[in-house]
Amino acid sequence: MRQLLSGRLGRVRTGAHRAAGPDGAAAPVEEENLWGPSPVIEVRSLLKTYGHGDAAVRALGGPPDPVTGVSPGVDLVVEQGDMVAVMGSSGSGKSTLMNILGCLDVPSDGRYLLDGIDVGGLDEHQLSLVRNRKIGFVFQSFNLVPRTPALAQVELPLAYAGVKAAERRRRALAALSLVGLADRVDHRPNELSGGQQQRVAVARALVTAPAMLLADEPTGNLDSHSTEDVLAIIDRLNASGRTVVLITHEDEVARHAKRVLRLVDGQVVADVRQAPVDGPPPALRDPAVFAAHAPHALTSGGS
Ligand SMILES: Nc1ncnc2c1ncn2[C@@H]1O[C@H](COP(=O)(O)OP(=O)(O)OP(=O)(O)O)[C@@H](O)[C@H]1O
Ligand SMILES: [Mg+2]
Repeated sequence: MRQLLSGRLGRVRTGAHRAAGPDGAAAPVEEENLWGPSPVIEVRSLLKTYGHGDAAVRALGGPPDPVTGVSPGVDLVVEQGDMVAVMGSSGSGKSTLMNILGCLDVPSDGRYLLDGIDVGGLDEHQLSLVRNRKIGFVFQSFNLVPRTPALAQVELPLAYAGVKAAERRRRALAALSLVGLADRVDHRPNELSGGQQQRVAVARALVTAPAMLLADEPTGNLDSHSTEDVLAIIDRLNASGRTVVLITHEDEVARHAKRVLRLVDGQVVADVRQAPVDGPPPALRDPAVFAAHAPHALTSGGS
């Protein structure tokens, strides 16, 4: 199956980047490098409707045009190395978008290429391989396995990927060190603080070296100190080249992103770039200036 998937990856990549030559024949595969790497996310005319008939809810893509009957849909391209925050009020479609980007749900219509792979054509098993190989998930509620030590939690996705025990252990230890938990590897979730549990979840998300880290309200259950710890880790991961898409309600979290999208009623209504794709995220570009403009810094004199 892994061979099948890499074959598929090769074909789709080629298709996505290959230009036809003057005689109409496809150009050689090697030319794809001239076009640069695939975007990590390429979404076209994406729609998601839950339910049917009178009970149908258009969660993503906006309402149909009264004349043409066509919905605008969501178009989105995220380049490698970007750090994107998706904001929007409750019910605006953030989790729906995240579930589709994470291959946890399928769109009702439209096209989604993940790291060059057209996920629309994959069956359940292939999708689960893509999820395991391409995406690291972080959820608001941590989603750790109860009564399981941190090291085993982080090894788990490597076990699914068929990595041998010694290598699993080495990589899981490195990931836990990266999030500052080298001294907590034997601790179970109930022996860790909320912030530490989320750092285990981040280590688990990054241990497979995924194309993208996808986080839904990663700091939603954390106090401000743990929020800063987790954001600092995500900042560093992005600075080292990892693509990050995170959903958040909080301006304080969105400040860390290089780009901020705003959803209203399932449509992208604003797309603001805060820092270039290439280079460090805002908090690491000029840490002193970033910290000085933090809301708590501005208000700390008054309360
Ligand atoms: N399984 C479902 N069945 C029917 N409607 C759904 C389903 N999931 C979501 N919806 C509807 O789709 C819309 C978008 O929901 P979604 O969960 O994506 O919002 P959200 O932006 O993540 O909100 P929140 O900030 O509250 O988490 C809402 O109107 C919601 O009621
Ligand atoms: Mg949500």
